[in-house]
Amino acid sequence: MALTQANQTLLERRRKALGPAYAHFYRDPVHLVRGEGVWMWDDDGRKYLDCYNNVASVGHCHPAVVEALHTQAQRLNTHTRYLHASVVEYAEMLADIMPGDISVSNIVCTGSEANDLACQIARKVTGNTGLIILKDTYHGATTLVRELSPAIRPEPCPDYVYEIDVPDTYRGPGADDPAAFLAHHKDQIKTAIGKLQARGHGVAALLIDSIYDGPGIFAPPPSYQRELFAQVRAAGGLIIADEVQSGLCRLGDHYWGVMDSGVVPDIITMGKPMGDGHPLAVTATTPDIMKAYVDKGGEYFNTFAGNPVSAEVGKAVLRIVEQENLLSHVKETSDYLMTRLRVIADKHPIIGDLRGKGFFIALEFVRDKADKTPDGDACLTAVEWMKDNGVLVSRIGTEGNIMKIRPPLVFAKEHVDLLVETLDRALLTL
Ligand SMILES: Cc1ncc(COP(=O)(O)O)c(C=O)c1O
Repeated sequence: MALTQANQTLLERRRKALGPAYAHFYRDPVHLVRGEGVWMWDDDGRKYLDCYNNVASVGHCHPAVVEALHTQAQRLNTHTRYLHASVVEYAEMLADIMPGDISVSNIVCTGSEANDLACQIARKVTGNTGLIILKDTYHGATTLVRELSPAIRPEPCPDYVYEIDVPDTYRGPGADDPAAFLAHHKDQIKTAIGKLQARGHGVAALLIDSIYDGPGIFAPPPSYQRELFAQVRAAGGLIIADEVQSGLCRLGDHYWGVMDSGVVPDIITMGKPMGDGHPLAVTATTPDIMKAYVDKGGEYFNTFAGNPVSAEVGKAVLRIVEQENLLSHVKETSDYLMTRLRVIADKHPIIGDLRGKGFFIALEFVRDKADKTPDGDACLTAVEWMKDNGVLVSRIGTEGNIMKIRPPLVFAKEHVDLLVETLDRALLTL
């Protein structure tokens, strides 16, 4: 749908005022002005089903979140250098839903800061500097985590970082053979540890996702996670679970996707969904790790993070997740979604693979199912067609051929029906 003259002007003003570093979705960006639950409206009153935004976790503009924000903003907003009950209550609520001994929360504002702090903690506590990450992943935008984000880093991999293969269950080594798959990734982590030790860095941490978004939405089997964790721990490193995308019930079985592996990590980082759109993120770890960090000279302060307004917003989000049973809701609705998508994937030969977990799903577009050649053009056409017909999804992958479906947690069966029917119609146009 072509931009109106008013929106063309707004886009030009945006390019001038924000500069060229800002990207936008879709050939012609959507000008959104209002949201409610899983719905958003553009400036022309057109309604869209949001099948993409994980930040509005409990739904756009949830009334209880808006109320919490409004009430506290009217009262007081300061920082954590003063005593205030809200941030303590928030951290206590988080501790109740954390696995194992993880019970201490450092509140930050973004997922980037959460991962940055996690790496600082791991380095200080272990005395090592080496960090293991996966190829093509993204962990944020500070100087440190940008270097840990091959998805956006054009520079060569720094010496203290080692990148291992993504657990690509579609095209990667051992994709058709679980034993070969595990053997390959066992070998990868062994090599990474050996290289970082040989370079004199040792291993401070393995920074993992529970589901790999950027490289194409791959959810590794629990055996994979367990093997990697064991080898890194044996080498003296910590496990940092980046739950910025996968956390807060998104994968449907646990609050934190990493727990699908059955192994508790050392640090969990959270971001996007925690504030339902408000900038709220967390680096959570065990009391022992936090004590070791402080004993070795570590400290943390962040002017805006953990302020009473953010804390009240965070509390409201956690209350809604519990009151609306969103963990079981995601599981049940996702099973329904996957069943319906399987029918679509079997009907349209252009869909080479359907994968994912919970509300984090990929449909891979290929020219030919046998040779798996990516078809980015077809995926682009389908995504644009769906947008023009009121359903928002997006695409990822180096070839742009993977449709990403990642709706708010409150997405229900009636929304699944609309999504699947629109997708089916989009695929018939190709
Ligand atoms: C897995 C993951 N980690 C960290 C981040 C960084 O979060 P933020 O944009 O809040 O800094 C992102 C953002 O997309 C992410 O996807």
